Amino acid sequence: MATTMHVPFVLLLCLLCQLGILGFPVSQPPQESLTCGYKSCHATKPGMLNVHLVPHTHDDVGWLKTVDQYFYGDRNHIQHAGVQYILDSVVDQLLKNPDRRFIYVETAFFYRWWKQQSEDVQKTVKQLVNQGRLEFVNGGWCMSDEATTHYSAVIDQMTIGLRFLNDTFGHCGRPRVAWHIDPFGHAREHASMFAQMGYDGFFFGRLDYQDRDHRRAAREQEMLWRASESLTPPVADLFTGILPNGYNPPEGFCWDQLCDDPPIRDDPDLEDYNVDDVVIRFLKIALEQAKVYKTNHIIMTMGSDFQYENANLWYKNLDKLIRYVNQKQGDGSSVNVLYSTPSCYLQEIHRANLTWTVKEDDFFPYADAAHDLWTGYFTSRPALKRYERLSNSYLQTCNQMEVLGGPKSRKGLFGAGDSETLKKAMAVAQHHDAVSGTEKQHVANDYAKGLAKGWAHCQVLVSNALAALSGSSSPRVYCENLNISVCPLTETSNKFSVNVYNPLARPVSWPVRLPVNGTAYSVTDSDGKAVDSQVVPVSQATAALRRDRGYAANELLFQVQAPSLGYSTYSVSLLQTMPPPASPLTRAPRTIQNKFVKVTFDPDTGLLSSLSNLETQQTVRLSQNFYWYNASDGNNNDSNQMSGAYIFRPNSSTPFIISKTAKIETIQNAVVQEVRQWFSPWISQVVRLYADSRALELEWTVGPVPVGDDLGKEVITRLDTSIKSSGIFYTDSNGREVLQRRKDYRPTWNLKQSEPIAGNYYPINSRAYIKDNRDQLTVVTDRSQGGGSIQDGSLEIMLHRRLLYDDVRGVGEPLNETSDLYPEGLVVRGRLLLLLSPPAVAADTHRPLAQGVVLQPLITFTDGKLPPNTRLQFSGLQAMLPPAVHLLTLSQWDQDSVLLRLEHQYEAKESKEHSAPVTVNIQKIFSTLDVLGVSEMNLSANQWKDEMTRLDWKAESGKKPLPKTKGDPSVWEVTLKPMEIRTFLLRVRQS
Ligand SMILES: *[C@@H]1O[C@H](CO)[C@@H](O)[C@H](O)[C@H]1NC(C)=O
Ligand SMILES: *[C@@H]1O[C@H](CO)[C@@H](O)[C@H](O)[C@H]1NC(C)=O
Ligand SMILES: [Zn+2]
Repeated sequence: MATTMHVPFVLLLCLLCQLGILGFPVSQPPQESLTCGYKSCHATKPGMLNVHLVPHTHDDVGWLKTVDQYFYGDRNHIQHAGVQYILDSVVDQLLKNPDRRFIYVETAFFYRWWKQQSEDVQKTVKQLVNQGRLEFVNGGWCMSDEATTHYSAVIDQMTIGLRFLNDTFGHCGRPRVAWHIDPFGHAREHASMFAQMGYDGFFFGRLDYQDRDHRRAAREQEMLWRASESLTPPVADLFTGILPNGYNPPEGFCWDQLCDDPPIRDDPDLEDYNVDDVVIRFLKIALEQAKVYKTNHIIMTMGSDFQYENANLWYKNLDKLIRYVNQKQGDGSSVNVLYSTPSCYLQEIHRANLTWTVKEDDFFPYADAAHDLWTGYFTSRPALKRYERLSNSYLQTCNQMEVLGGPKSRKGLFGAGDSETLKKAMAVAQHHDAVSGTEKQHVANDYAKGLAKGWAHCQVLVSNALAALSGSSSPRVYCENLNISVCPLTETSNKFSVNVYNPLARPVSWPVRLPVNGTAYSVTDSDGKAVDSQVVPVSQATAALRRDRGYAANELLFQVQAPSLGYSTYSVSLLQTMPPPASPLTRAPRTIQNKFVKVTFDPDTGLLSSLSNLETQQTVRLSQNFYWYNASDGNNNDSNQMSGAYIFRPNSSTPFIISKTAKIETIQNAVVQEVRQWFSPWISQVVRLYADSRALELEWTVGPVPVGDDLGKEVITRLDTSIKSSGIFYTDSNGREVLQRRKDYRPTWNLKQSEPIAGNYYPINSRAYIKDNRDQLTVVTDRSQGGGSIQDGSLEIMLHRRLLYDDVRGVGEPLNETSDLYPEGLVVRGRLLLLLSPPAVAADTHRPLAQGVVLQPLITFTDGKLPPNTRLQFSGLQAMLPPAVHLLTLSQWDQDSVLLRLEHQYEAKESKEHSAPVTVNIQKIFSTLDVLGVSEMNLSANQWKDEMTRLDWKAESGKKPLPKTKGDPSVWEVTLKPMEIRTFLLRVRQS
């Protein structure tokens, strides 16, 4: 999406400047040679100001229209945009003049277009790519959001986009530059990933208006981003440039059919001849722009949202602009204009051989004016955000199953299944108007539908794989609504089995809750041993939430153990009907506890009052409650900005409390202790402690958020503790490294804080914490959310938003989610996991806990008795991986090879125990795969590691890059350093 920035300019009238009419440059016959990449750049003029014109289009992979509507140009009454015509038209226009250049960014669209082209067109396009006239930039499936995405899904979406480009175009299809012109703030982890994907540089458009002003004045709009505190420079160093005008052309120079600027009228015999006026205006803008950059090269983005559908308009005028501006050189002008691309511009910046300031924090939050903080979308559409995160877990399981189950997983007992459908749907969902929640409602529905279709394809694959691995052909049943206690099979069956597949490379213990109607069950594990189980009544909140989709009276609870990268199977049978489970007590207990954790409640209010870690004998005061901010409706003295899908703007800094007390039900048994809190008809929570968990679970249910009072509401939960956090809290970046956040402060400029709440909100992708010398309280989330620490000792997380006004950033709808099942407003349920630990060892628990929430077990069911000889337990690993190592990717690449990513999941200084390099033998990881060969690749798997070279950049300050350390001791032994991810292509055979 785009908002126009107005660059002031002075209109100069031309006095009697007559310019001769010249012919167009003579076209060179196209050559077959591969002169793509830096070699294909046009020459520049050393003594002049070189203006790089970059023709481009910004094609959102869904926003106001769905991705397919945008592709075809359907529903043009919503927005005139048709990507197929853009690519058709650009290719025609590139052929007309070999000087012309174009960049293309979003592979989701390019892939759709390419499939439909004739061989002739494909051949022509390959030629354009080989000559560097059409250049891919960024090249992921989409241009991902940076605030609400998880690194695992970002790496995947980049991988499939870049793989398509490499498979189709080979080396000339490899983008050199990362290009995130539209995302609403920029994450450090994205920069780190781009560096490790081999990009030479990165350009973006949006940053805080104060930051931008400061950087313009200091000429620091180009810098070296040192994007990791753990990885040795220059591994995560990325040259980063801020574009001059968002991603729009300079004011007055938009020649698309969507724009109204005057064309260049260059026949002096006709009316309105304007060449001199255009040239003067252009020179003025170029010279002004040069003042805020460091070299004698500047870049201009000539294009915007869905432009170039009729590319002739743009190119015809750009050809003339270049001709007439350069003609002025004869009269002493020192401005040289050329067709260019971001990589050609980058090459010139690199040649300038300057030193660059080092940036070590990130670009959040983003504000485009004093009261316009883009911190609402950190939470917008919380249900979609959870579905996306859960889909990532499911995709990783699906990928693993495809490898472990062998060829039978794709085509087997239950038909043809695949992982591609979910891979692509997940890749689309990473777009900066998808998981971000900033799209129209019908588009959000389309993203969810795409994910659901992907799930269905994966379910066939998983059924086939589990049949192959277990030897049982019993049909497998999936229950996607276990979170609201709905599963037709377990509600009715007297005998069934539960398969728990664990996608992590270490064993897990996981609590299972199944909707049932019996009152007692026998549960046995894979060895036939009895497992402790309990039956508890379904809560009223859950019964109300599921509506008429299920009718279970009870939930059956038991703890399952699942092996590394494998499954175990539990058998459940109904026992003779017993009396119904004891009704819950209707008062708060003073405490609930297990062997690790104790929490106390205030008996008068029913709220939490303290949290203790029994192993370390530490206790903090902890109260927790729910509040809502009244969303600004725009009627406000300071500014008329409303809260909306993008923007969070409470109209007061004091949130309303929903209820000072909670009604309570308590359940305590050998498996779980839970206190069910009811705050209002639309807010309830379960405070839950499983017998062998170190984390306290807060399962919140929020909605339908009432708006009958015509007040938009932004609902938060707030944890208030005795921790002396001194204005500081911490949030993760895309689920990986952690950044420190300070109240009313930005590390690189003197902040003028104008929004005391929204201006202190940051994205939380998987965890946040506050700490002092003694205590650290970590909150692990189950999706991306926004949050802040407004008072010392306090941490608040925004859970749900329901708003009545559009925030005028283009989406054109208020964020007011309803559905057929919930016409009165969406209800959202989720979990926060709380850990209290000494700061020095906190990561040892929160790292694995957070990974376990991201990659959670897949639970499937079979009805009746399993056939004899069914294999009840399976592990794809010879042994669990060392605790520091996370198996990030295991995915079929082609017939004989699989993609493997191993990750060191600790930061360099984070853990006494785990922050050391660790070595793994790749041949000894898998139990059912013989590894015959291994090649290392870059992070995005589109380049061999040993062929990877990047431009080097000089930092003004900070540590000097260290010389390269020596490689691994042998091809099979792989050493991982803190926060390192290594990517391998393995040639394998099923053993
Ligand atoms: C770049 O600058 C350094 C001094 O900072 C100089 O030693 C080096 O020769 C320069 N390189 C080029 C290619 O001009
Ligand atoms: C890229 O594609 C080329 C040509 O199809 C192939 O030879 C090469 O192995 C691919 N590179 C990678 C890293 O997959
Ligand atoms: Zn966009």
